[in-house]
Amino acid sequence: MRRLRTPRIAALALLTAGLAACDATPLPLGMERGTELFETCAPCHGANAAGNPDIAAPAIAGLPQWYIEDQLRGYQEGYRGDHYTDLAGLRMRPMALSLTREGDIESVAEYVAGLDPVYPESTLHGNAGAGATTYTQICVACHGVDGLGMPELHAPPIVQLNDWYLYQELQNFRSGARGAAPGDTWGLTMRANSLALSDEVMQDVIAYVQTLR
Ligand code: HEC
Ligand code: HEC
Repeated sequence: MRRLRTPRIAALALLTAGLAACDATPLPLGMERGTELFETCAPCHGANAAGNPDIAAPAIAGLPQWYIEDQLRGYQEGYRGDHYTDLAGLRMRPMALSLTREGDIESVAEYVAGLDPVYPESTLHGNAGAGATTYTQICVACHGVDGLGMPELHAPPIVQLNDWYLYQELQNFRSGARGAAPGDTWGLTMRANSLALSDEVMQDVIAYVQTLR
């Protein structure tokens, strides 16, 4: 009798483990989950993530995964998109807060990073020649000669974004609506470089950035 007990318990344990495995439907992660989540982003950013100027949503297609993750965490933690003058950011913040499941930020960032950049057409009319001087004196140090950014400095590529969005963000950095909150280490480094820029200089430097495409 005694000898039979151990195998029987072992068999019971195996059966329970088997049932538990059948019960837990595996949660999708990575591209599968990212594709599913992106359906909630598309109404504002567009099916190809080309952006929508009417609601100030930028063309996020093909931004690097690390940068998208940085920003989604910033919106979640409230050091981005939580300033009363930042209407576009306030629109985006609840969307980041909806990414509640572990791995959601990474999954949707991987999906968006995998889309082809769209290079939306220019809408501003700055002087690219004048902007070149500012760019090579200031911006090049972090965003690079080609405007493709430097991951080690957390500086994103800026060539494929809408020009009106770049302008909107430079204004936000200068006013402190972005990059001034405690905890926003990388935003702070960018903000310092926006403080001396006039509206005109901003438009000129953006016109130059468009020529780097
Ligand atoms: C209700 C409209 C709306 C929805 C839905 C939305 N966004 Fe946004 N998103 C915006 C707006 C507006 C901005 C610009 C905010 C700003 O200026 O800070 C933005 C900005 C962003 C940025 C910052 C881009 C940059 O270059 O810094 C990322 C990343 C982003 N959204 C990702 C997403 C993802 C991923 C989803 C889906 C989970 C999503 N958004 C859903 C409106 C939206
Ligand atoms: C010291 C490094 C540094 C310099 C110099 C710098 N930037 Fe940045 N820039 C950054 C970093 C880091 C970020 C990302 C900040 C964040 O995570 O919110 C950024 C973000 C930006 C953004 C927002 C992009 C987006 O997708 O939302 C724009 C626009 C920008 N920079 C333009 C410029 C321009 C134009 C100049 C020159 C006048 C410049 N930067 C100089 C580091 C720098």
